[in-house]
Amino acid sequence: MKASDLNAENSGRPPEDRETAKRLAELGCQIGSRRTFAIISHPDAGKTTLTEKLLLFGGAIRLAGSVKSRKAERYATSDWMELERQRGISITSSVMQFEYLGHIINILDTPGHQDFSEDTYRTLTAADSAVMIIDGAKGVEAQTIKLFQVCRRRGIPIFTFINKMDRDAKNPLDLMDEVEKVLGIEAYAMNWPIGMGSYFKGIYDREKRTVERFRPGSSHKTAEAALSGSLTDEEVREGIGADLLAALREEIELLDLAGNTFDRERVSRGEVTPVFFGSALNNFGVPQFLSGFLALAPRPQPRETNLGRLKPDSAEFAGFVFKIQANMDASHRDRIAFIRICAGRYERGMTVVHTRSHRRLRLAQPQQIFAQERTILDEAYAGDIIGVHDNGTLRIGDVLAERDGLEFEAMPFFSPENFARVSIANALKRKQFIKGIRELQEEGAIHVFRDPHLGVEAPIIGVVGQLQFDVLAYRLREEYGVPVSINHLTYGLVRWVAAEEPNLKLLKDSNMSLVVLDKDDNPAVLLLDEWKAAWMSERYGIKFYAEPAVNR
Ligand code: G4P
Repeated sequence: MKASDLNAENSGRPPEDRETAKRLAELGCQIGSRRTFAIISHPDAGKTTLTEKLLLFGGAIRLAGSVKSRKAERYATSDWMELERQRGISITSSVMQFEYLGHIINILDTPGHQDFSEDTYRTLTAADSAVMIIDGAKGVEAQTIKLFQVCRRRGIPIFTFINKMDRDAKNPLDLMDEVEKVLGIEAYAMNWPIGMGSYFKGIYDREKRTVERFRPGSSHKTAEAALSGSLTDEEVREGIGADLLAALREEIELLDLAGNTFDRERVSRGEVTPVFFGSALNNFGVPQFLSGFLALAPRPQPRETNLGRLKPDSAEFAGFVFKIQANMDASHRDRIAFIRICAGRYERGMTVVHTRSHRRLRLAQPQQIFAQERTILDEAYAGDIIGVHDNGTLRIGDVLAERDGLEFEAMPFFSPENFARVSIANALKRKQFIKGIRELQEEGAIHVFRDPHLGVEAPIIGVVGQLQFDVLAYRLREEYGVPVSINHLTYGLVRWVAAEEPNLKLLKDSNMSLVVLDKDDNPAVLLLDEWKAAWMSERYGIKFYAEPAVNR
């Protein structure tokens, strides 16, 4: 099939009959109303608080505090695990959908401790845009930089919310400068704070030229709750005070003259980030942010595939698995694969091709997973995320489509940097141990290697962050009933080699290097660090690769 055939249904060929035309129009309408985004931030910047306010707006939750479990990321390991015990709750935040002003909004959670970030990075592949929250007092922080870079690589639009303006913050002009310099993206202020901390008076909307006034102590439940007016209103001017008014005028003039110009196209290419100021805790600036965001955020966008660009409103269903989570519900011990729909419409019970195995698969009971409730879905559209029960068939990155042979761009690959031998104390638990390791590997939580001289009972596990070992031991014990011991290894790097690499046999297993096989039996070498890898490569004439052949 030629690439151009892929979107043939919608590319000018007149629909055969009225029914088809109606269906396509409905499809376009549904997809056009979708906004699917991820919220990224450094822990403590206010992700939980902002998410909760957005959900409250959309009527998706009734109670503040429903999103609290997201804060797991901020706790010490032990607390994190204690919270994870309540899996039904923690999964609450995987995907959240609500309707607001005619839009269907899908918020993707990016679970946040830096040691769990592989999962976060993969989740970003399912988003069409990102909202970056920055703590006004702290500026751009380490975890934000990493997450930003992943979004940047995908070229998705990034929106900035500078939070906690009700507290003493950095100078707003310096914050704008920091975003530009540290992240290397142009920043355009959509609104501007008037004072900060105990002198925070509100925000000035640069387009409407109006002022929303901050009332301390008020929770600003709705947009109307904030007092708004123009700078010509006597009452507004008095409320702001002469000094802050003069400073505001000066800063706005500076932004108008010397700041970046607003360019919608460049926003959509991720070259300029629109910046909004506010206070999530006080719900201040949040409705303005939401409406500004909705006006600019992209609908589901075409995706690159091996068969050409796939338009979201193509009549054929296509999606990919970006996350797998086992044992989400302790009472069911089931495994859910999260699928981002990239094109077309899902209908309950539809059959699709699992393109890796070329087998047909019935999407029997796709669910929308929200809070502790799971709703069986009758339909979903490009932009939406559905969760399907999986008995071990699906892997991260797998494509499900009406058409066989379709492939999306490869999932980002993150090489493990910490390694340990994991073993069981009780040989009777062997079966559960192997099952647990396999399932956690399929979730993408760990990388499994094996010493060619030893069996699958003695795997070497690689993870990106050390904390993942604690989580691994905890989950094996709690979910599979297998206590394990973890013996850390000194290696800090894995490099793959070609299957036919003749010089591999020159490498002796030592504390400098260890030849292993990865999950697909590709040969790889565990090494101490980059420097040693370069040295060995030269000394033994072996070519090392940073990723397995399938990813290259
Ligand atoms: P996170 O998910 O990004 O980690 O941050 P989270 O929303 O949990 O916010 C971190 C802390 O910052 C919380 O305080 C939260 O109340 C506070 N916060 C969030 N937005 C604002 C804001 O606009 N202004 C002010 N002043 N504080 C804000 P905490 O004391 O750690 O937790 P809690 O006891 O309030 O729940």
